[in-house]
Amino acid sequence: MHNNVIFVSDMASQISKAIGECRADRLFILTDSTTEQVCLPVVRDFDCLHDAKSISIPAGDTNKSLEAVSHVWKELQRLGATRHSLLVNLGGGMVTDLGGFVASTFKRGISYINIPTTLLSMVDASVGGKTGFNFGGLKNEIGVFSEPHCVLIDTQFLKTLDRENILSGYAEMLKHGLISDVPTWAELIDIDHSPLTIEHSEERSQWSMVNVQCSMIERSVAVKQRIVTEDPKEQGLRKALNLGHTIGHAIESLAMSGTADGRLKPILHGYAVAYGLICELYLSVVKAGFPTQRMRQTVRFIHEHYGRLPITCDDYPALLQLMTHDKKNTANDINFTLLGDIGDIRINQTATRQEIEEALDFYREG
Ligand SMILES: NC(=O)c1ccc[n+]([C@@H]2O[C@H](COP(=O)([O-])OP(=O)(O)OC[C@H]3O[C@@H](n4cnc5c(N)ncnc54)[C@H](O)[C@@H]3O)[C@@H](O)[C@H]2O)c1
Ligand SMILES: [Zn+2]
Repeated sequence: MHNNVIFVSDMASQISKAIGECRADRLFILTDSTTEQVCLPVVRDFDCLHDAKSISIPAGDTNKSLEAVSHVWKELQRLGATRHSLLVNLGGGMVTDLGGFVASTFKRGISYINIPTTLLSMVDASVGGKTGFNFGGLKNEIGVFSEPHCVLIDTQFLKTLDRENILSGYAEMLKHGLISDVPTWAELIDIDHSPLTIEHSEERSQWSMVNVQCSMIERSVAVKQRIVTEDPKEQGLRKALNLGHTIGHAIESLAMSGTADGRLKPILHGYAVAYGLICELYLSVVKAGFPTQRMRQTVRFIHEHYGRLPITCDDYPALLQLMTHDKKNTANDINFTLLGDIGDIRINQTATRQEIEEALDFYREG
């Protein structure tokens, strides 16, 4: 993989340059209903996008669906896209995943550019070449590995992003810190210095991130890039990126199905990852000797910023069942990525049912 992630300082000229490199005959911009409203106006008047035709799909991960894929294929057809056309994906991970898939399959593949507009898509989803959509009730069930021509990151898009979505992306940054090195991790959870300050601006009635430095975002992207460059198809090292995700995905799915009494309701991916990190750091302490103090610092940070999901022991069977069905597992073993310390990655670890239940107890009580 070439180094195709660019932090932009001058959006107009850098988009223009990237589009020029693709030598496309026609240009299309994919948004969801929200980014169409809040992000498209930022770029719409750029000369290079003057003739671009806009395609939009409804916002929300439930729309990362075959229906939406089909809609975008049809729109490309109707609007005269050819094998030499270019798709610009302007949105969060939902748009970059789905748009990347559409582009990679339309007429056997056209070029595409990602312009991520959420923190999660900047540091994670838009980088690394995984594209796809949800199918048959399973997340990212259908997809292909396919690299965008480039990823253009402009943090000004984050100004309109709500607090929960900032925190959701920040959880993946935390994961990147844990699998990289102590300074990167420490900067992210340095509670005394409150690096995560999110301010509410009355006049725009929106939340914005005021204190997550661009340099932190750059370092986080670099962690992901380094790993996916070394192991693009997830044969080994890339599994490091699954830290927090074995239990996190199960929590996410459980919350997604909700409970009749409203105790559990859907949560954002990053919140589930943050909760999963608590459990999997506990397993790392027990099974791989991860330093207890570092686990405690991280757990304190997560509880403080992400709160707690009210799961009970009665949820354990369902959670274990969901973990068994995670597509990252082989046969019947539940597969984990654990840590011996910050940056000391141990892939292909397993844990017993009892150990997993202890980790869930720790989440609830710790
Ligand atoms: N390909 C990968 O490697 C990878 C990695 C992680 C996650 N993902 C995928 O990414 C998706 C999650 O990404 P996400 O959290 O960005 O979700 P998302 O794309 O659904 O965005 C979250 C919400 O924020 C809105 N939004 C986007 N940009 C905005 C902006 N600038 N201002 C205001 N609102 C804005 C969206 O319309 C949406 O309602 C999931 O589908 C997940 O499977 C993929
Ligand atoms: Zn994730």
